[in-house]
Amino acid sequence: MQRLTVAKQSLRPRVVFSGIQPTGVPHLGNYVGALRQWVNLQREEQPSTKLIYSIVDLHAITVPQPPETLRQRKREVLAALLAIGLDPERCTIFYQSSVPAHSELMWILACTASVGYLSRMTQWKSKLSLASSSTLENRAVGSRLKLGLFSYPVLQAADILVHRATHVPVGHDQQQHLEFARECVTNFNHAYGSHLVHPETLISPVQRIMSLTEPTSKMSKSHEAQRSRILITDTSQDIRSKIATALTDSTPGISYDPATRPGISNLLEIFSVFDAEGRSPAQLAQAYADASPRTFKEAVADTLVAGLHGIRDRYLELSANDSYLDEIEQHGARKAQESAKETMDIVKAAVGL
Ligand code: AMP
Ligand code: TRP
Repeated sequence: MQRLTVAKQSLRPRVVFSGIQPTGVPHLGNYVGALRQWVNLQREEQPSTKLIYSIVDLHAITVPQPPETLRQRKREVLAALLAIGLDPERCTIFYQSSVPAHSELMWILACTASVGYLSRMTQWKSKLSLASSSTLENRAVGSRLKLGLFSYPVLQAADILVHRATHVPVGHDQQQHLEFARECVTNFNHAYGSHLVHPETLISPVQRIMSLTEPTSKMSKSHEAQRSRILITDTSQDIRSKIATALTDSTPGISYDPATRPGISNLLEIFSVFDAEGRSPAQLAQAYADASPRTFKEAVADTLVAGLHGIRDRYLELSANDSYLDEIEQHGARKAQESAKETMDIVKAAVGL
């Protein structure tokens, strides 16, 4: 009997879940650090694996923004996900807010989640630009920190658990949130029985893409300088010009050493990600050891332009097709609602609701 159960469980199809905030057209960091892996999984996973990708608009409102901006950014991200090659028939692509079960499960998880654990997490502190030593006991902190931002990880846990995800592809910065999600499973299952699934983290192989103008900090949407980031919908001229003006150093030749040569090393990382021969940053550094900065940057730009080829055109075409995007939204919402219902029925019965 026991054996059969174990065998059955291991035969359960894998469920991959991940989410992205609707902060507008993704940049190269988002693409390399997260989204490319979503597309790769489409190719690599067995047909029986469920692939579920959410545009997490409820998380987005932890940062106040005009409603029109949010609406527009959601559509931009939806078009971008399709433009990079996610297939809406193979994957479930949906807005988080169109599946109320995410918020419903969040509440249930909140009832067994520990405030102590959440207070030690780093994201709310960094979002409020507070020192990592800041605590909730500080009055000024307590009045600035909203409950939504503080409980962000509980909603993220609900996103994952409501679809019984077994694998969650994310960037390094999300590891803490994934550990918390597993903690939520442990707490819930301890209180109500073994109903929720422990998700595994699939960490993206590329650590971080750095800013082109300030290569010691990561490429980010919030950086003021437009030239600091490449959007996946940039024109090839934009890409070439941004790479050409990327900050490097005056050391002659090309070598890979992120600590002393952050600018050159970041370009080598980018080169390596898109290199058709699959060379590592160190191997590329050897191949270009004696090249001038200009020749090297041109080679990086050529490779990047080729790697992002087609995304911009597909994005523009999709963005102009409102009725198609509406259809995709509704199709995704229906599939995600069905997927979530299965868990909510089990959870509610277990809790006595
Ligand atoms: P964000 O919206 O900035 O929180 O990023 C969304 C996803 O993209 C996260 O999973 C991050 O790990 C990833 N990401 C963001 N910026 C970078 C970067 N500069 N390099 C690599 N990955 C990144
Ligand atoms: N917090 C994630 C980020 O900022 C986005 C996210 C929300 C997510 N829910 C998720 C990622 C569930 C993976 C799984 O990138």
